[in-house]
Amino acid sequence: RTVYVNGEYVPEEEAKISVFDRGFLFADGVYEVTSVLDGKLVDFAGHMTRLDRSLNELGMKRPVDDAQMEAIHRELIVQNELEEGMIYLQVTRGAADRDFAYPSEDTPPSLVLFTQSKPLVDTAASQNGIKVAFVDDIRWGRRDIKTVQLLAPSMCKMAAKAQGADDAWMVEEEHVTEGTSNNAYIVTKSGTIVTRNLSNSILHGITRAAVLRLAAESQMKVEERPFTPEEAKDAAEAFVTAASSFVQPVVEIDGVTLGDGKPGPIAKRLREIYIAEAR
Ligand code: PDD
Repeated sequence: RTVYVNGEYVPEEEAKISVFDRGFLFADGVYEVTSVLDGKLVDFAGHMTRLDRSLNELGMKRPVDDAQMEAIHRELIVQNELEEGMIYLQVTRGAADRDFAYPSEDTPPSLVLFTQSKPLVDTAASQNGIKVAFVDDIRWGRRDIKTVQLLAPSMCKMAAKAQGADDAWMVEEEHVTEGTSNNAYIVTKSGTIVTRNLSNSILHGITRAAVLRLAAESQMKVEERPFTPEEAKDAAEAFVTAASSFVQPVVEIDGVTLGDGKPGPIAKRLREIYIAEAR
C-alpha cells in the first residue's frame, strides 16, 4: 500500500512518525473514516465538517485545507486502485517533548492517511445481521469529539465478544449510548425508529445524519431520544450505522432474538436507499 505521511506518498513500510508524536504518547489526535464505493468518496463534505469541529474543540490546527484534503484522498484511491473500502485520516498535535501541557502554537500537526480495501456492500453481516451485547460504557465525557483514544471502546468490544456477540451496545445510566464504532437504533413494535439524540454522550455520525434524512424523506417515523436496554430487547428490529458498514441490521440483542431473527424490513430498506444514493 501507498500511504500519506506529512506531505509525502510512501510505501507503508517506509512511513515514519516520531516516537514523540502526541498522537502516540497522549492520544492527542482526531480522525475520520470515509467510505469509498465504486472508487468514489461517500459523504466527503460531512466528514470534513466534523473534522473541523473535532479540531476546534481541541484547539488543534488543520494541517491542510479541504481541497488539498480531497486531493490526497483521491490520490490514494488512484495509487492503491481502491474500489470499495475506507480511507482513514488522522491529525495529531504533532511531535514535542513529552509534557501534559500542549506544545507551542508553531508545532506542526501530523497528518497521516491510508486506505483499507474491504467489501462494504455484499457482506455476510449485512445479509444475516449482527449480534450485540450490553456492556458498561467506560469511555470519557466528550464522545462527540472523534479522538484516537479508542482503548475503552476496544475493551467494550472485547467484552461483548467474550459474551458471543459481534459488538457491544454501550450502556450508561440505564440507557444505550451507541455501538463501539457505530450509532445504535431500534424500531419499536409500532414502527418508530428510535436513536439517541445528539449530545456529548455519542459521536455525531455522518451516516446517522444521512440515514435520518432518508428516513424522513421516506415518511418513516423517527424519535431522537435515549432508549433503555429493556426497550431494545422488546424491539421489532434494530440496526447500527457507520461509514464502515453503512446500515447494518442487528438481529440479536443481549441473547434475545428480534422478530424472526432475520434483518428487519426498515433496516433493509434504509440500507438499500443509502447505498443507492451513495452510488
Ligand atoms: N467509527 N459512533 C462511534 C463511537 C464511532 O466510532 C463511529 C464511527 C460512529 C459512526 O459515525 P459515522 O457514521 O460518521 O462513521 C458512531 C468509525 C467508522 C471507526 O472508528 O472506524
